[in-house]
Amino acid sequence: MNPLAPGSTIGILGGGQLGRMLALAAARLGFDVVVLEREADSPAGRVAVKLIVGDYTDEAALAELAAATGLVTYEFENVPADSVAWLAERGIEVAPGARALAVAQDRFEEKSFLNAHGAPTVAFAPAGTPEEAVQAAASVGVPALMKTRREGYDGKGQRWVEHAADAAAEFAALGGAPVILEAAADFVRELSVIAARGRDGATSVYPLAENHHENGVLRRSIAPARASQAIVDQAERIAARVLAGLDYVGVIGIELFEMADGRLLVNEIAPRVHNTGHWTQDGCEVDQFEQHIRAVAGWPLGPTHAIAQVEMLNLLGDEADGWAKYAAEPETRIHLYGKRGARPGRKMGHINRVKPL
Ligand SMILES: Nc1ncnc2c1ncn2[C@@H]1O[C@H](COP(=O)(O)OP(=O)(O)O)[C@@H](O)[C@H]1O
Ligand SMILES: [Mg+2]
Repeated sequence: MNPLAPGSTIGILGGGQLGRMLALAAARLGFDVVVLEREADSPAGRVAVKLIVGDYTDEAALAELAAATGLVTYEFENVPADSVAWLAERGIEVAPGARALAVAQDRFEEKSFLNAHGAPTVAFAPAGTPEEAVQAAASVGVPALMKTRREGYDGKGQRWVEHAADAAAEFAALGGAPVILEAAADFVRELSVIAARGRDGATSVYPLAENHHENGVLRRSIAPARASQAIVDQAERIAARVLAGLDYVGVIGIELFEMADGRLLVNEIAPRVHNTGHWTQDGCEVDQFEQHIRAVAGWPLGPTHAIAQVEMLNLLGDEADGWAKYAAEPETRIHLYGKRGARPGRKMGHINRVKPL
């Protein structure tokens, strides 16, 4: 594919904050953005040149998108595979591609893919019935974390199993959908690596972020994380294997567990820009959003080294009401998503507190 020229239109599936920040980055490079989103009022819809309101499976909405652009990307990994196939059949380029989506949409496929490509994970086993859940818990060992194979996010669709025999009840509590059981990772901390691969196969990797979650939701990232060269080398090796294994185009987020023995295990991959990469907006010359647009548009990737030390804090629920206080802090950069209605725990924005390296 030739590099997409400024003035062209890029389609984004999904109208949340990630779509909004992708659209803003695309606009800076001279592109127009069309968003397809279910809600009539959305963070990305507010900054796009055109908003198509519809379900991702709505053929009329997809046809409108296809009429507007030849290149589509997405801001979340649960885009239906059939919608991507529908677009592809009409000659619309979708990046990252169908393989990345298929792998990332199913935790069993994902961990199987990772292990097959030399990216280590905790022990895991799938289960489709209460009996299989008990066997799976016994095989990975307890305590085990039961996760629905599909559609979990922000810690939803997960339950701890303390005794293998309890797995049947926990399986029912998750609604009887297919699950995997994971061995508990006794990690010393959580890290993530944001990486990108261009259309020419070139790759780039950002410095590691150290991430802190509360109630399954990201609260805070520190980046670049203090880490030994051995840790950085492992992360870069994992990123290279995942990107090549998926024949990937775009930015990917890879969540990691740092174990006491110095090994990195992969927790999960997200085939999109990632909350733990928001620090790059103020810590790098080319942030993850511009990098993603560059990659899918066939442009050269930008530099990924840090130019500042950043503490990223998510603003959840009414915390975004503190904007005036943050605005008065000279070291703080504010990023608000334009969401109406601050439900408790909802991601309303984030701040990056920036210090010299
Ligand atoms: N196998 C595990 N052992 C220990 N903690 C885990 C394990 N898997 C996930 N967690 C914890 O739960 C959080 C959310 O799990 P994750 O699989 O990343 O789901 P989500 O898709 O909701 O982000 C992780 O960031 C980590 O803190
Ligand atoms: Mg996660």
